[in-house]
Amino acid sequence: MKIVGISSSPRGKNSNTLKLLDAALEGAAKGGAEVESIDVAKLKIKYCTACNKCQETGVCSIKDDYNGVLEKLLEADGIIWSSPNYITNVTAQLKTVFDRSPLVIHEQLFDGKYSLSLTTAGSDELDFVLAIMDNFMLHCGGKTIGGAGCSVARGPEAMEAAIEKSREMGKDLVEAIKEKRSYPEQEAAHQAWRDHFKYVILANKDHWTHNCDYWLEKGWLKE
Ligand SMILES: Cc1cc2nc3c(=O)[nH]c(=O)nc-3n(C[C@H](O)[C@H](O)[C@H](O)COP(=O)(O)O)c2cc1C
Repeated sequence: MKIVGISSSPRGKNSNTLKLLDAALEGAAKGGAEVESIDVAKLKIKYCTACNKCQETGVCSIKDDYNGVLEKLLEADGIIWSSPNYITNVTAQLKTVFDRSPLVIHEQLFDGKYSLSLTTAGSDELDFVLAIMDNFMLHCGGKTIGGAGCSVARGPEAMEAAIEKSREMGKDLVEAIKEKRSYPEQEAAHQAWRDHFKYVILANKDHWTHNCDYWLEKGWLKE
């Protein structure tokens, strides 16, 4: 079993959020997973240009580090998303990865994968940022086991507690993958998304040929 952790703070090894990610990856490794950490803030990943080529060909037309990140994510059974709160959102570095991923969403390429989300913030505004990462995973067809975070203003004890929680959640991510844990609400959200997105695919069928062939092969256009 493989778990990939995504770090997205520009503060590198000084990142508070990285401390949570490292703990979660430690927990996952203790649970028996092979783990890998990728710092997207250190990579060269350009903005999506909305060329829509990925919908047509199944491959992003921009040649940079995104494609290698996607390859690792597609190989993984579990993903740990992590980002500090930047203006009540994820960092631009992580958002750029999300924006480069319409193919993953349109073809539900994280179907069968599980994730965990981690954040730190100056304030107590953690849930909003966790929800952004969880929602991305859901839109990609994956499931999330939830998240953990810490308001750094609450001091070292709060950080220690969040590190411990992240370690436990890393371990639990492995368990969720092993037992193929069911989340009926998330599964219903996937179905509702497909019920609607079918019409988007059909409306664009002449241009989004890769997406359309994929949906035909999966039988989703008949649902
Ligand atoms: C550009 C920027 C924007 C930020 N915006 C917020 C914010 O909107 N709300 C908040 O609570 N903290 C905010 N913070 C504080 C960071 O979320 C906090 O310091 C976090 O722990 C940094 O994580 P890192 O060490 O992993 O980079 C911001 C920090 C920066 C540098």
